[in-house]
Amino acid sequence: MKFHPIEELPEDKVKEFFVGRWGSSQMVISSGIYECSDLDGFALLDEAQEIIGLVTYTFHGSDCEITSLDCLEVGRGIGTALIKEVEKAARENGCRRIRLTTTNDNINALRFYQKRGFVLFRLIPNAIEKSREIKPEIPLIGNYGIPIRDEIELIKDLDA
Ligand SMILES: CC(C)(COP(=O)(O)OP(=O)(O)OC[C@H]1O[C@@H](n2cnc3c(N)ncnc32)[C@H](O)[C@@H]1OP(=O)(O)O)[C@@H](O)C(=O)NCCC(=O)NCCS
Repeated sequence: MKFHPIEELPEDKVKEFFVGRWGSSQMVISSGIYECSDLDGFALLDEAQEIIGLVTYTFHGSDCEITSLDCLEVGRGIGTALIKEVEKAARENGCRRIRLTTTNDNINALRFYQKRGFVLFRLIPNAIEKSREIKPEIPLIGNYGIPIRDEIELIKDLDA
């Protein structure tokens, strides 16, 4: 798979992908508010040069935070490969760990990350209520009909 750094892609294309997946180009997480065009990341394109997988990340000291990960074709190994690209970039930047946040309804992501070396680190109850004040388009109900309410932080220790 050939990944493209997102700064090499037209900004509109990246924004459009974000809006389609997350309702806006802004990510609102307890760790901060992020505009997708300001983030580092990698994308996988299809033959028509459309984005089919995208990961974004940012650095906080010796931590690398994954701010989003989306694959349009689930189960083809794209998510795993994108995570590996971020791990490589994190190591090159001297990071000791990777962290990320998901929501309580995202059972698929919890399974995915835990099978790839991430461990549950912190629960932030009711975090999404605050996020909705800034980003009202966050739905009330998520995967499997579960109310979207809490944030769950996971980490992967790169020294382990
Ligand atoms: C989570 C996600 C990034 C995984 O990407 P992917 O390309 O499907 O991942 P891979 O093909 O590398 O690995 C497949 C794994 O994903 C898991 N998985 C994720 N979503 C799944 C789904 N909807 N249905 C079934 N399995 C799913 C499976 O457990 C499988 O793991 P296993 O084979 O080790 O049991 C992708 O499902 C996705 O984009 N989900 C929606 C957005 C999202 O939730 N992002 C994470 C938010 S922090």
